[in-house]
Amino acid sequence: MNRREREERREGMSQEKHGMTNSHLLVHRFGYVRPTSLPEITAALREHPDAAILAGGTNLLVDLKLERVHPTNVIDVTFVPELRGVEERSDGLWIGALTPIYALATSELLWKEYTALAEAAAAFGSTQIMMRGTLGGNVCNGSPASDTVPALVAFGADAYLVGPDSERMVPVGDLLEGPGKVRLRKGEILAAIRLPRATGQTGSAFLKLSRVRADLAKVSVAVRLSRGEDGRCTSARIELGSVGPTVVRAREAEKLLIGRTPTEDVAFDVGCAASAEIQPIDDVRSSATYRTRAAVALVHDACVLAWSRTSEEVKREQAAAEAAAVPRGEAEEPLRLAVEPIQLGPDEKATIRLTVNGTRHELDVRPNELLLNVLRERLELTGTKYGCGIGECGACTIWLNGTPVLGCLVLAVSADGAEVRTIEGLAAPNGTLDPLQEAFIEENAFQCGFCTPGMLMMTKKLLEEIPEPTEDEIRDYLKGNHCRCTGYSSIVRAVLRAANNRASLGPKAPVEPSAGGSNSEAP
Ligand SMILES: Cc1cc2nc3c(=O)[nH]c(=O)nc-3n(C[C@H](O)[C@H](O)[C@H](O)COP(=O)(O)OP(=O)(O)OC[C@H]3O[C@@H](n4cnc5c(N)ncnc54)[C@H](O)[C@@H]3O)c2cc1C
Ligand code: FES
Ligand code: FES
Repeated sequence: MNRREREERREGMSQEKHGMTNSHLLVHRFGYVRPTSLPEITAALREHPDAAILAGGTNLLVDLKLERVHPTNVIDVTFVPELRGVEERSDGLWIGALTPIYALATSELLWKEYTALAEAAAAFGSTQIMMRGTLGGNVCNGSPASDTVPALVAFGADAYLVGPDSERMVPVGDLLEGPGKVRLRKGEILAAIRLPRATGQTGSAFLKLSRVRADLAKVSVAVRLSRGEDGRCTSARIELGSVGPTVVRAREAEKLLIGRTPTEDVAFDVGCAASAEIQPIDDVRSSATYRTRAAVALVHDACVLAWSRTSEEVKREQAAAEAAAVPRGEAEEPLRLAVEPIQLGPDEKATIRLTVNGTRHELDVRPNELLLNVLRERLELTGTKYGCGIGECGACTIWLNGTPVLGCLVLAVSADGAEVRTIEGLAAPNGTLDPLQEAFIEENAFQCGFCTPGMLMMTKKLLEEIPEPTEDEIRDYLKGNHCRCTGYSSIVRAVLRAANNRASLGPKAPVEPSAGGSNSEAP
């Protein structure tokens, strides 16, 4: 067999379905390229124009495991710092494509000026996914259920695209083609999003309806309204998600708002008009009929809320309350960049350096090895559990450079140079349990214990970010961690107890059980 035949065979094999959908391994093989600057990314894309870009990987790795995509090469852009961060410039607010969703949900600037976008980021179904998933990935996966996209389109955001030989600005709305499809040219990457400056008296709101907190939208809506000096609406944008092949603009409904004051009655008419403009489908999350009816109420509520935020008087009154409602988490941890660019074939191995619970390791890994498997099988740290394998249960939660991530959705090669903390690193080296572990024992916050390592790694971070969380904050933080036997009330009590113990800095203080919380209540 000559070289060309070998390559064709290998190409064929990498396109083949392996029939091992969502095994604990990532069976599909691919080459791996790790650029460390934007010019290196464009050079890599010129060489491999059909490669898949790996940002947070919360969509791509799920798609790879479920055999929905079969890229020959993956270009890991996570080591390029210039693609992350939020910056105010004279022509608007620039957000790097690699900026994590969590950074948007915790940005005071966004809550103040671009409230609908901050609300959309905060509405994500899992805290770990928010910490790893990026704004660019949310746009480029092309899902009609992507939470940030209706808000971006309602604000008239532009996408800054960089290709092998050119760069261009395109309205985000023009990028959207259909489910799973965006209009990127070959070899092009989304580098940043630009939001126009907010002018005059404007207000916005994003609302989402989902089956449970940890889920994609059945229907979502972003509304942005402007108030004229006469107290009437001068401009309106209404964009709905999950009710069509891509974000749907409700133009007829918008017309009903112009020149009027969005009272409850007007907002109801607007909701009915918007509901007549959408084309939802039946799917696992909802029926078309339900979506059509629910859109009436959702658009109504979003219009009333956005309008209330256009009033300077109301704005002043609400400012304090909204500031208090901003999720109190910290912004992202800085990237630790101690790596060189690399390029690997599907069967080649890279030597990666990991510091796991304070111990340094050097390991040879293939591009398709998952961090979870390396920890469990090669380092024998089996405390971290394999549950669903596709980001939905939280059992595999570990810390990567101080941020909780899902080990099942991180390539080991992508963790090169990182500090990793697992459940085995929670107790002191002499075996003394962490006070949080003790609180879990005291509150009987586990039965089979399968979810417990993930719960502990997550709540340890919560207490670092918010030393005295409320019950709601605990439940919201744990929205991506599922427990199938204990329920959540005792887990919430354990976290409250640990916080209380720490606050009192003395003997363990009793913690009142939450009023009326049943053990099977969702977080
Ligand atoms: C359990 C779970 C819960 C989720 N909940 C939500 C939710 O509530 N709301 C929601 O909207 N989404 C949700 N998602 C989907 C996903 O997490 C988000 O869409 C996330 O923002 C994707 O970002 P990422 O960086 O992980 O993308 P990736 O997985 O890295 O990439 C996604 C796609 O975009 C491409 N891509 C990524 N970045 C770029 C770029 N800069 N330029 C060009 N192409 C690029 C990739 O090649 C890939 O095709 C969920 C996913 C999981 C697994
Ligand atoms: S195993 Fe990773 S989230 Fe379920
Ligand atoms: S204790 Fe069994 S899954 Fe949570």
